[in-house]
Amino acid sequence: MTDSKTCNIVVLISGSGSNLQAIIDDLSEHPQARICAVVSNKADAYGLVRAQQAGIAQHVLNHKAFADRLAFDTALMQVIDQHQPDLVVLAGFMRILTPEFTRHYAQRLLNIHPSLLPKHKGLDTHQRALDACDQEHGCSVHFVTEELDGGPVVIQAAIAVQRDETAEQLAQRVHALEHQIYPLAVRWFAEGRLRLGEHGALLDEQPLASSGFQFQS
Ligand code: GAR
Repeated sequence: MTDSKTCNIVVLISGSGSNLQAIIDDLSEHPQARICAVVSNKADAYGLVRAQQAGIAQHVLNHKAFADRLAFDTALMQVIDQHQPDLVVLAGFMRILTPEFTRHYAQRLLNIHPSLLPKHKGLDTHQRALDACDQEHGCSVHFVTEELDGGPVVIQAAIAVQRDETAEQLAQRVHALEHQIYPLAVRWFAEGRLRLGEHGALLDEQPLASSGFQFQS
């Protein structure tokens, strides 16, 4: 991305869309990027209502209507590409993506994951952090590659795990951090400050550490 044009973004969701909302709110003050469309694989995702309220085009593509993962991803790519995105943002999109999809959007695909990657890839991250007696837990934004939750980390935010905290309480606290770091990473990308280089993520052309930029709230 250069800063000479608006960064077109497509956001993929499956649920509540609170990260989508955080990005919508942030971009309202940063017009160098705009969300062209929100795509959900679930018709009842509340994030679609958020998109509608913000005047953003919405698409629903039910993965169950497709014969296999590749057929769904191929149709998904067609919907996304109608909007010619510079960036595709996964915001609680709960689908495993095919290599065809991740390659198609290489270097312009971001995801947020509710753990301090590389710890706790996959699901149930908050309970797993508690079960592992982690002292710290948090969230990570990363570039998406073919490896599930394995692409170069851009930014992380951590909190100390409280004694006797439930997974729900921890999830809620991590969610609040997600709403801070995801808009920031998206803005960096839109401003042309963030990119995926050959050896990892670069911020202002400086290589980021493997755990990314450490956000202090
Ligand atoms: C977020 O906690 C996000 O980190 C997680 O889904 C939630 C979506 O919340 N994503 C993953 O677990 C992806 N592996 P939201 O719909 O309110 O933004």
